[in-house]
Amino acid sequence: GTAPTLAVIGGDGIGPEVTAEALKVLRATIGADAFSTREYSLGADHWKATGEVLDDDTLAEIATADAIVLGAVGTAPGSTEVPSGLLERGLLLKLRFSLDQGVNLRPSVWYPGTPTPLSEEVTGAGPIDFVVCREGTEGLYCGNGGVVRAGTPQEIATEVSLNTAFGVERVVRDAFTRAQARRGHLTLVHKHNVLVNAGSLWRRVVDEVGADFPDVEHDYMHVDAVTIALVREPQRFDVIVTDNLFGDIITDLAGAVTGGIGLAPSANINTSGKFPSMFEPVHGSAPDIAGTGKADPTAAISSMALLLDHLGRPADADRIRSAVGTDIASRLAGPMRTTSQIGDAIAALV
Ligand code: NAD
Ligand code: IPM
Ligand code: MN
Repeated sequence: GTAPTLAVIGGDGIGPEVTAEALKVLRATIGADAFSTREYSLGADHWKATGEVLDDDTLAEIATADAIVLGAVGTAPGSTEVPSGLLERGLLLKLRFSLDQGVNLRPSVWYPGTPTPLSEEVTGAGPIDFVVCREGTEGLYCGNGGVVRAGTPQEIATEVSLNTAFGVERVVRDAFTRAQARRGHLTLVHKHNVLVNAGSLWRRVVDEVGADFPDVEHDYMHVDAVTIALVREPQRFDVIVTDNLFGDIITDLAGAVTGGIGLAPSANINTSGKFPSMFEPVHGSAPDIAGTGKADPTAAISSMALLLDHLGRPADADRIRSAVGTDIASRLAGPMRTTSQIGDAIAALV
């Protein structure tokens, strides 16, 4: 068919820096003619200049792309330059929600030798290689709730988690399918000892869908306990399925223990194929290091492997994964490199 069109949104902070390296590696892997790009300059500067975050016409145009490559959006957590959440909700979450990206896939692989806070006792215990299937369009992210008596001592603020049988089943089925193709193990992560309504829905769906996958074993962990296990015995995990907020939190932890947030890729998958899926690093715009050349582009680059998997080119995706593995292994001995030096090195290895 014709070459796929990628909508590219570099975004804020280090977003454009790491995205440039991701596209460099993608070109080196499949050739510059194998895809075309449409660049969108959205983010803090666009909002300041126009008062718009993501207008409907732009969203409609992005929705016609074959896939989306995103850097990161958002300003420094303490700053008041842009109201907190305006860009995250108005751009990133708007894309995930409007494009119905129900599965937020976040793989974690630890490459031996990669610096990690894990002890040798843990890292010596076998390969660490798991994926988190985070629900992407529901939960506490829906903006369901409100504030009454704002600013008074009687203020009441609510955020209500939305869980639909449809949305839960969609991500659970995807997770079981992945587990079947991997090591045949799935862990549901929730907090059903407290969140009994949503918790029982998630459990029921896992049991029901699990019956269609007799060769996949499944178990359960509370989200607080899973944070211990991710640090003490990460090898036990193959596929984790969980809701939107738990998935957000545990994937930063998973990134940190498998070598740093600068290595963690993600895919926001529209499972129906009606809308484009979106590929982005797990990390944010890192305003503290923007413009310094210190940003590690590896997470953005590995997200291109997920893009190629999605475009039906798994062998090319593996070329990126193996180039990344080789590059990471060489980091121990070598000097610190800049964002573009790491991109160049990986591009030369694919
Ligand atoms: P962050 O992920 O941007 O940064 C956390 C820490 O990790 C910082 O110390 C940063 O320097 C470091 N870091 C992140 N990416 C790195 C990389 N590639 N290489 C080296 N170091 C890296 O999280 P934050 O500071 O909480 O958020 C900053 C902004 O990003 C906020 O506005 C937040 O809302 C936004 N954010 C956006 C996304 C997204 O667009 N997908 C994701 C997370 C946070
Ligand atoms: C992520 C980010 C986003 C999320 C924010 C910026 C809305 O933290 O992609 O992990 O919470 O999903
Ligand atoms: Mn996050």
